[in-house]
Amino acid sequence: MDLNNLLPLLIYKFKSESDLVKAIEELSLKFTQKREQISDYLKDERLTSAYTAFYLTTNMPKLEAVFKWMPETWLAQIKNSTFIDVGAGPGTFSLAFREWAEVPVKVMQIETSPVMRDQAKRIWEGLYPDEKLLLKAEGETFLFFGHSANEMGVEAALRYVKEYNPDHILFIEPGTKEFFPQMLKIREGLLRYGFNILFPCPNADECPLKDSSTDWCHQFIQVRQESDVERLSQIVKKDRRHLPLTVHAFSKSFSTVNPTSRVVRVFPETKFSYEWESCELNHIEHYQIMKRGLTKDAHALLSEALAGAALEIEVEKVLEASKRVKIKSLNKHSL
Ligand SMILES: C[S@@+](CC[C@H](N)C(=O)[O-])C[C@H]1O[C@@H](n2cnc3c(N)ncnc32)[C@H](O)[C@@H]1O
Repeated sequence: MDLNNLLPLLIYKFKSESDLVKAIEELSLKFTQKREQISDYLKDERLTSAYTAFYLTTNMPKLEAVFKWMPETWLAQIKNSTFIDVGAGPGTFSLAFREWAEVPVKVMQIETSPVMRDQAKRIWEGLYPDEKLLLKAEGETFLFFGHSANEMGVEAALRYVKEYNPDHILFIEPGTKEFFPQMLKIREGLLRYGFNILFPCPNADECPLKDSSTDWCHQFIQVRQESDVERLSQIVKKDRRHLPLTVHAFSKSFSTVNPTSRVVRVFPETKFSYEWESCELNHIEHYQIMKRGLTKDAHALLSEALAGAALEIEVEKVLEASKRVKIKSLNKHSL
């Protein structure tokens, strides 16, 4: 989504680019330093429009990047489900879902802020005048939380799950240490309700990072932003290409064989090896992948691996504090 298409659909008209930049900086301060004031922007047309101009545009590419990790058969199923966008804000992920599908989709939005609801309505109707948002879910349901579970809290998120009893659920939340314990509580609740976990865990056993004070499970994506959005990111000095996130996916009607292992942290590579911390069948392991003998293509893939990558491995040697492994596949690529 480029900024030029979006600016005419904002509910607040910024007088100039510097006016918009000032509002984004004010908003960003609330998100990062003044967390007690976090909900103020939801009552303010100017800050809601600043959110829309900056965070809607830069968050939208996350959905497609996250879908690349997911099984194709599951994606085919959710494409036909009603996408229930919980804490939709300006409709960031409703739009991302529509763009990913490339055809009309069933979308319903849930949002407590009237200002955000106005903003979301104006954008959806501006971009898709012939496609109505649904007021009631139809058929299979796909409950989606985009940076909203962290604002509403565990209990409210689980209440939405009880109320809508969805077939599928996806969370794309901030990749922060502060949010991780909340995500774990939601995970425990959903496993209790009978959901299968599709991502990120190899299985439904207890999370090995549950009591860690230093590590938390989160993922990284690398996305391309539209050129005018990238320019704005540079002006406000925020990297919106290399993004940390917390992704969890669940389903009631779909189950799959999850990868054996997933990268949790990428350490700096050495002259001889790639070094990763990985979650292998819900145990944390330090993997050492020797560079010697790897093809050029394998190097290219391994050197760009990010936390969140799915792995199939072959153990070569168990060392004292690590495992020397061969990577047989990384995400959807065989090596
Ligand atoms: C950070 S915004 C995220 C908006 C959008 N999903 C996105 O990713 O860009 C969080 C949104 O969650 C909404 N929200 C917070 N608590 C909520 C609740 N209990 N029910 C519905 N929406 C809620 C807020 O009003 C806000 O619009």
